[in-house]
Amino acid sequence: MKKILVLALLIPLFLAGCSKSSQEPEESKNGQAATPSSPPVASVPRWYTEEQVKRGYPLFQQHCAECHKPDASGDPNWKQVDAEGKLPPPPLNGTAHAWHHPLPLLRRIVREGGIPMGGSMPPFKDKLDSKQIDDILAWVQSHWSDQIYATWNKINQRKKP
Ligand code: HEC
Repeated sequence: MKKILVLALLIPLFLAGCSKSSQEPEESKNGQAATPSSPPVASVPRWYTEEQVKRGYPLFQQHCAECHKPDASGDPNWKQVDAEGKLPPPPLNGTAHAWHHPLPLLRRIVREGGIPMGGSMPPFKDKLDSKQIDDILAWVQSHWSDQIYATWNKINQRKKP
């Protein structure tokens, strides 16, 4: 019963903005971000700079890599709750769900963590300022393919803060 409750609490937070549309790429089962057969997409300009990506890398290694892995590939079993009913750290490299979240929600997840929602990610609002959080998210998003980024960009424009 506890597991069901935890999932019920987590799903609205982490799957927010998850509306399915035919333009969204399939989530793959083999860890590849985009389906190889997808047609090429015109690349959308990124919101961040190369400088931010560079600054974000060491910050991610220091604060996030222990759980989400140094290359942001996360836990392969990220969809399965553990014995305590907690979800493992998901990949952030574009293969899981993070691209369903508009930027304000990504920032909030990092600031507040997942504990208030029954998850286990700690909050970072006392450790990282908003500029550092944006630098980390820039590094994370630099792993996303143009296709994933373009799809995220549409979601991001739909959802205003
Ligand atoms: C102690 C382990 C841990 C650390 C450290 C951690 N996370 Fe997480 N993170 C998780 C877990 C577990 C989840 C799944 C939700 C939950 O249980 O809170 C998660 C979820 C997320 C999500 C939502 C992903 C999705 O697909 O919905 C984002 C974004 C995220 N983390 C970013 C970060 C960033 C950026 C950092 C470093 C500043 C970080 N995390 C540090 C464990 C961690």
